[in-house]
Amino acid sequence: METKIYRMDQQAIQEAAELVKKGELIAFPTETVYGLGADATSEEAVKKIYEAKGRPSDNPLIVHVADRHQIKNYVEEIPPLAERLIDHFMPGPFTIILKSNGKIAPTVTAGLDTVAIRIPDHPAGRNFIRETGLPIAAPSANISGKPSPTKARHVAEDLNGRIAGIIDGGATGVGLESTVVDGTGELPVILRPGGVTAEEIKAITDIAESPARQESDKPKAPGMKYNHYEPDAPMILIDGDAGFFQQQINQFSSKGEKVAVIASNELAEKLETEHIYQCGPRINLKEVAVNLYEALRFFKKTDVDIILAETFEDKGIGQAIMNRLTKAAQDRISQK
Ligand code: TXA
Ligand code: MG
Repeated sequence: METKIYRMDQQAIQEAAELVKKGELIAFPTETVYGLGADATSEEAVKKIYEAKGRPSDNPLIVHVADRHQIKNYVEEIPPLAERLIDHFMPGPFTIILKSNGKIAPTVTAGLDTVAIRIPDHPAGRNFIRETGLPIAAPSANISGKPSPTKARHVAEDLNGRIAGIIDGGATGVGLESTVVDGTGELPVILRPGGVTAEEIKAITDIAESPARQESDKPKAPGMKYNHYEPDAPMILIDGDAGFFQQQINQFSSKGEKVAVIASNELAEKLETEHIYQCGPRINLKEVAVNLYEALRFFKKTDVDIILAETFEDKGIGQAIMNRLTKAAQDRISQK
């Protein structure tokens, strides 16, 4: 299959929307990462998503809609708390889990009785969804296990030849996925940290404690148990000052390993090393978030043996950054 690249003009978006109506897969930009969209009411179309990504079938997909009034079409009820969350954070980098009314294809929800709903805050992405007239099931548009795509080029790297088209909307603005929140209970539960911070949610309501990772056989966000965001070469997080970081670089280098580093601009200035990706200033973690997945895709195992990455404060957007980095490193961390 030839994967067509679409610009963001109206005619191209309409053409891409027509393909989705026929059951094809189209990657589209959102403010978080690129999504791989299919008709959420068609089992056949949704199955293609799992095939193209190599995604485990017990990991449910988020349903994307263009406008708030559409949410009620797919859920049993919108409890008052959920109503407030929707008012505050949608459209935006926020996904709400509600009880499903069964209108969405069961493959989308992986057999759960809940459905995840999101309204992307991206003009072209939303326009595309609106043009299809459908609810759009969309995971991140990457091969399962790899970092999510923040540029059309990343989508093409992973899925060229496997999908009908990509709408190129340039680089995404947030750079990390949406915050997934269970809105079925009395208090919201954050199942995946993301673009909307815990602090922002706490400003409008208390939050219930999040379930521990891999705590039970039936995790609330099933996707959380799989490997994610993996760079090409093995990665270790380095938690310490510049001196400690340099020591770690030197240790690997002296064993003959080719070391790559992912670091903030501030740390990068203090390090002496050959292969380094500067992911933005520590004082502006939003910028680090924007560049993070590009950083994880940057080094190929043909070029380097090991990637050493800086750690960040587990606060604000830093929480989502550390969540992704920890998974990318498969929990490997060196502490001073
Ligand atoms: O920003 C985003 O959320 C992007 C863009 C494309 O919208 N999408 C995205 O989708 O990150 P994906 O498939 O990579 O991640 C969806 C997450 C998974 O962890 C999945 O397990 C969880 O949402 N999820 C989906 N439906 C769920 C449900 N009914 N209950 C609990 N978790 C659910
Ligand atoms: Mg994903």
